[in-house]
Amino acid sequence: MSQWDERYGGGEYVYGTAPNDFLVDMAGRIPPGRVLCLAEGQGRNAAFLAARGYEVTGVDSSAVGLQMARQLAESRGLKITTVVADLATFDPGIACWEGIVSIFCHLPAAIRRPVLQRMVRALRPGGVLILEAYTPDQLRFGTGGPPVPDLLATLADLREDLAGLDFDHAIEIEREVVEGRLHTGRAAVVQIVATAPVGNR
Ligand SMILES: C[S@@+](CC[C@H](N)C(=O)[O-])C[C@H]1O[C@@H](n2cnc3c(N)ncnc32)[C@H](O)[C@@H]1O
Repeated sequence: MSQWDERYGGGEYVYGTAPNDFLVDMAGRIPPGRVLCLAEGQGRNAAFLAARGYEVTGVDSSAVGLQMARQLAESRGLKITTVVADLATFDPGIACWEGIVSIFCHLPAAIRRPVLQRMVRALRPGGVLILEAYTPDQLRFGTGGPPVPDLLATLADLREDLAGLDFDHAIEIEREVVEGRLHTGRAAVVQIVATAPVGNR
């Protein structure tokens, strides 16, 4: 059983069942259609997007988390698709998603870049990527996220990882993140909304 399966195994929604605040603010920018949620965990963001009418697929390496994600959606009369997979090898396809959502998906740097470059190619022209994650400055706060520098990226790192997209919103900020027991308080985050260009790529 993985570390994440164990973390989720107690049955508690450790990041809550409410969606991420930044996603709530930005979700309307995703065109109607298919949305892929990376490292979706226990499904709070997938359920929110499904309620907004999107056709949502959540991918995560934790089978336990994704089972809870399906339960959360079903409890609201919604359907989501889930895929248990390691993002390091997951194939999202080419130009087939209107939206890709990455909320607190922290991967080792060597894996993060190829994963995000696959996501750039997986967006349809006009499709939108929404990302929020802790930055290395979060190590000072200790209010959530991995205490491992290699798993934390700056905006400059992510601009390179996501080369090929047009950045509509790209900032590093400090804000209150209160999302369940494991994300609790003032935090250093990076936020990105970026669009796949329409035309030759
Ligand atoms: C902090 S949780 C965030 C969950 C969800 N995005 C949310 O905001 O509620 C991080 C998630 O990343 C997943 N994860 C970590 N490494 C992964 C990998 N290599 N492939 C797929 N999922 C991974 C974990 O299983 C966990 O569910």
